[in-house]
Amino acid sequence: ASTLNQLAKAQGRYFGSATDNPELSDTAYTAILGSDEFGAITPGNSMKWDATEPSQGQFSYAGGDAVVNFAKAHNQIVRGHTLLWHNQLPGWLTSGNWTAAQLTSILQNHIANVAGHYKGQVYSWDVVNEPFNDDGTYRSDLWYNTLGTDYIATALKAARAADPNAKLYINDYNIDGLGAKSDAMYNLVKSLKAQGVPIDGVGFQGHLAIQYGFPTNMAQNLQRFADLGVDVAITELDVRMVLPTDATKVATQAQYYTNVVKACLAVSRCVGITIWDYTDKYSWIPGVFSGQGSALPWDENLAKKPDVYGAINTAL
Ligand code: XIL
Repeated sequence: ASTLNQLAKAQGRYFGSATDNPELSDTAYTAILGSDEFGAITPGNSMKWDATEPSQGQFSYAGGDAVVNFAKAHNQIVRGHTLLWHNQLPGWLTSGNWTAAQLTSILQNHIANVAGHYKGQVYSWDVVNEPFNDDGTYRSDLWYNTLGTDYIATALKAARAADPNAKLYINDYNIDGLGAKSDAMYNLVKSLKAQGVPIDGVGFQGHLAIQYGFPTNMAQNLQRFADLGVDVAITELDVRMVLPTDATKVATQAQYYTNVVKACLAVSRCVGITIWDYTDKYSWIPGVFSGQGSALPWDENLAKKPDVYGAINTAL
């Protein structure tokens, strides 16, 4: 039987997983992570701002380098994640009372250094992560409140200058289907394109929950972005449920995974799918969504779940 990435590769796509540094010492875990189930790796935390610039101007790449080295050793591409976000920012940055000029320069310096360090080593960067609220308004965060919407173009231009060959993405959740938030992202990408700001792709996180229903017209949504002239990718896929699991919930979950794979394969510019780690052993879900879990195709004992893994494998 073919693995997930072998199947994806046969169709010109990749199938990837997120990982995190503490897990890299779990040899049973890394045996699967480094197998040909996965052709792409995303560091779940170690390229974020708090990890890479914990003190102003002091850069720290050990964690990110470990993930890049793992990927290289296993012939996997890396999705760099993320140069700018509202979460996991260091205290020096959030507690500073910056002018717009100061914050612009801090942002440019961060991206020049981090994307410069990884130049030529990452396939893509999630340059901007989660700019929107669910109603499609801009998220009121450090960046927007100080710089307005200009921070997005500033970040993208800095990333292009630092690593001209990396694909530059904007990434968000709850934009998988049609709706106010994906309309906002669509309008942003359209306007960036019209202004000549470098933008190569849109990342659809795909943090789904069976109790909230499947996103509306996902393939059609991905296609309208592709029609703007950008790549699209599913970047952080997981499908959670309220525990305990039962056969009905698992069947719904398997169907969601099938639907996502089919939506991506229906769009020629959908370059790949990344799950947000591959095993429930290291999923972020139980820690953040209380009482929920069982979101991934491998269980807590690193065994493939026949229904869920099987659904993805069959759909690919
Ligand atoms: C999560 C990590 O998986 C956790 O380990 C961390 O504690 C919080 O962040 N959207 C994103 C990711 O873009 O960076 C988040 O990752 C999950 C939601």
